[in-house]
Amino acid sequence: MSAPLVLGIETSCDETGVALARGEELLVDAVASSMDEHARYGGIIPEVASRAHLEAMVPTIRRALAEADVDLGEVDAIAVTAGPGLVGPLTIGAAAAKALAVGLGVPLYGVNHVIGHAAVDELVHGPFPDRVMALVVSGGHSSLLMVDDIVTGVTELGSTLDDAAGEAFDKVGRLLGLPYPGGPHIDRLAREGDREAIRFPRGLTAPKDQAKHAYDFSFSGLKTAVARWVEARQDAGQEIPVADVAASFAYSVADVLTAKTIAACRRHGVETLVIGGGFSANSQLRDLAAERCAEAGIELRIPPIRYCTDNGAMIAAVGAAAVRRGLAPSDLDLAVDSSMPLTLVTV
Ligand code: KG4
Ligand code: ZN
Repeated sequence: MSAPLVLGIETSCDETGVALARGEELLVDAVASSMDEHARYGGIIPEVASRAHLEAMVPTIRRALAEADVDLGEVDAIAVTAGPGLVGPLTIGAAAAKALAVGLGVPLYGVNHVIGHAAVDELVHGPFPDRVMALVVSGGHSSLLMVDDIVTGVTELGSTLDDAAGEAFDKVGRLLGLPYPGGPHIDRLAREGDREAIRFPRGLTAPKDQAKHAYDFSFSGLKTAVARWVEARQDAGQEIPVADVAASFAYSVADVLTAKTIAACRRHGVETLVIGGGFSANSQLRDLAAERCAEAGIELRIPPIRYCTDNGAMIAAVGAAAVRRGLAPSDLDLAVDSSMPLTLVTV
C-alpha cells in the first residue's frame, strides 16, 4: 500500500501555496503570489492578500491536482497553516481546508507555519538525522529551533525580540531609497561594498546578554544605527556610500545569525543545520553560514529558494509527518492563531 497522500495549503501571508506529498515524496507544489499587488503600497495589505487568496484558491488546487495527475478523491488528509500569520489570509486557507476535509471525509491538520519552513527540507533533502538545528529567517520570523522530532520534539531556543531579519532589510532598504521589498536590493548592493567599512552594532551579543538572550536576536538597534549613520552623512552634505552601508549592515545581520546558531549547535552537540524562510536567499547569510559550518564541521542544508519562501510543500511536510506519527487530527472547528506559539506544531 502506498503512503498517505497529503494536500497542504498555505495562506499565511501573500502566497497561496498548494502542494501534494505522498509520504516523504513531494509530488507537486503550486504557488500563486499577490506580491505585485502589494509592492506599490510598500508592504503587505492584509485585505488585498485575503481577496487574492480567495480568488487563487480553487485554481491553484486544480493546478496542483492536474500537474500531479491526481484526483481530489485520492487525497487521504488535508494540512493547512493554522498560524502564525495574518488573520484574514489564514482564515481563507482554513475555510478551504475545512470544506475539503468535510467534503472528502478525511482528517484535517492545522499546522505551524514556522515549523513548516524547517520541515520542508525533509521533502527536499531527505529525513532529518536524530537532532538538527533549524534557523528560520524571513520577513516575518527569525527563530532558532532545536529539532529532535519535527512533530513531537521542537524546542525554541531563541527568536527575534523585535524586527525579523528580512523586515530589518526592508526597513533599511526604505531608508536607502530602494524599492520594496528592499532585502534583495541590499543583498545585490552589498556584494559590491566593503563589509568592514562601517562597524555597525551586533545586537544582543554583549556579555550581559549571554544569560537570558544567548540565542535571541534583535535588529532594531542596528536599523537605528544605520539610520543615524546615514543621517549624519546627509547633514554634513556628504555622499552616502550605499554599497558600503549595505555590505556593513548585511554583515552585521549575517554575523549575529550565524555566530549564535553555530554556538547553539556546539552547545547541544548538533551536527546538522537547516536554514529556511525567505531570508535564506540572502547571499551574505549563505556565504557566512557555509564558511562557519565548514569550520565547525557542521552539515548545512538549505532548500532551493522556492521552498524557502512561503509555499504549500512546507505545510504538506508537517502534515505528512503528523500522519506518519499517527497524531490525532485537528477539530473541524479549529481557529486560526495569528501568533501561534512554536510550542504547538499542530493544533
Ligand atoms: O519568507 P518570505 O518570502 O515572506 C515572509 O514570510 O516574510 O520572506 C520575504 C523576506 C522579505 O523581507 C525580503 O526582503 C527578504 O525576505 N529577502 C531578502 C532576500 N530575499 C528575500 N533579504 C535579503 N537578501 C535577500 N536576497
Ligand atoms: Zn514564512
